[in-house]
Amino acid sequence: MSVRINPSILAADFVNLERDIAKISNADLVHVDIMDNHFVPNLTFGLQMTERIQQVSTIPLDVHLMITDPDRWAPDYADLGAYGVTFHAEAAADAVGLARTLRAKGARAGIAVKPGTPIEPYLELLEEFDQVLVMTVEPGFGGQSFMEETMPKLTQLRELVDKRGLDVWLQVDGGVDERTIEIAAAAGADTFVAGSSVYRGDDPSLRVSELREKASA
Ligand code: DX5
Ligand code: ZN
Repeated sequence: MSVRINPSILAADFVNLERDIAKISNADLVHVDIMDNHFVPNLTFGLQMTERIQQVSTIPLDVHLMITDPDRWAPDYADLGAYGVTFHAEAAADAVGLARTLRAKGARAGIAVKPGTPIEPYLELLEEFDQVLVMTVEPGFGGQSFMEETMPKLTQLRELVDKRGLDVWLQVDGGVDERTIEIAAAAGADTFVAGSSVYRGDDPSLRVSELREKASA
């Protein structure tokens, strides 16, 4: 199984994003966290900044929308060229309709669930999505501890994806480091978002390689 390592630039230096994205050019995608201070109690940036990130990044964008009205905004991120656009199940008015819109625009459509949100309602709809993001922390901030109690969701998803032979990426986000990545990989994740564990220290690209090795072991 191929694994993907997607560093989150939430942990990068916001006034040196181009430099910090260049440091992770051996990663698969760059994870871009959009927070609106409503869906989560924190604020990052929006479309205009993401458009510039898209222009300067040598690897594709994995956009994670932590916003209250994804039905309104997610298509714009697909339009600017994001490779994947993930919105939260808790926020979407019409998750399937939105996923279809994103796919029609050429983006991979992703659905995310917070740690306390059950995955069951979406299991029958898996064909509608290209990736499922199981949050392993409460969304909003980097540097939190991995919540292992979310792992049964991945096990359940992995079983179904394999049984149905689907090409759906199973992503984890939050508290992913050299230790917890092995737990998530064993539970069935194949796509790993890591912020602080990649950008702490002075060699983010080495951290990416280490994480890839652990996830593939
Ligand atoms: C949290 C964000 C994450 C965050 C992860 O709400 O969605 O992408 O950057 O940061 P770490 O890896 O530090 O937990
Ligand atoms: Zn994220």
